[in-house]
Amino acid sequence: MDDGFKYEDYQNTAKWLLSHTKHRPQVAVICGSGLGVPGHAGRLVFGILNGRGCVMMQGRFHMYEGYPLWKVTFPVRVFHLLGVDTLVVTNAAGGLNPEFEVGDIMLIRDHINLPGFCGENPLRGPNDERFGVRFPAMSDAYDRDMRQKAHSTWKQMGEQRELREGTYVMVAGPSFETVAECRLLQKLGADAVGMSTVPEVIVARHCGLRVFGFSLITNKVILDYESQEKANHKEVLEAGKQVTQKLEQFVSILMASIPLPDNAS
Ligand code: HPA
Repeated sequence: MDDGFKYEDYQNTAKWLLSHTKHRPQVAVICGSGLGVPGHAGRLVFGILNGRGCVMMQGRFHMYEGYPLWKVTFPVRVFHLLGVDTLVVTNAAGGLNPEFEVGDIMLIRDHINLPGFCGENPLRGPNDERFGVRFPAMSDAYDRDMRQKAHSTWKQMGEQRELREGTYVMVAGPSFETVAECRLLQKLGADAVGMSTVPEVIVARHCGLRVFGFSLITNKVILDYESQEKANHKEVLEAGKQVTQKLEQFVSILMASIPLPDNAS
């Protein structure tokens, strides 16, 4: 198969998972680089997080690994068929906004689907109406209520650093950006740059999931030709490790703010 999954493929996977666990998750969490449990990337974990049934994806599929976007986003539709109504996305990202520091957490307000500008959209191809409409809106992709709750929760946590909020731009990778590319991305209005998340969010919104998420700023992008620094994956993972606990705590507190499903007894 090289042209996408059929509805039955998603359904079969969802059925298989439901037959292997008693959990019936409301929330799915996709953990990006440095945010999953170290050494356990590639696991799907079911459990209860702060009272909410959750399915956690530790690691994800990336476009830069060579996967087509319909494979990258396969899990999101499976989550939908499991009965999940909320998707939480996390990622590691380079800071484009000059005010951002390494270790900052950015609440994602919006995204720029740069691969989409070149035709790489996960919804490209025939549309299955059972998942959603042909032309889904993306102007409200990141849930406003959850963003407000994230800010108030952050204040209650008494953190010294402020919670950042901004626009995430996706690049395909795997090469990091040139200086000229970083300057361009800044001019486009992006605050953070990374190589994931956007395809999953598009597919999640298409099938009606509530979405919110965070970027962990693991490095500042290089904007100056005189700079001796270079972006590298090790620095990304190191910065991830140091803030992991805080972000995990933050996400788990926020679970309680996700509205209960209508059918909750
Ligand atoms: N660029 C792209 N992706 C990234 C970066 C970056 O600087 N940091 C972490 N992921």
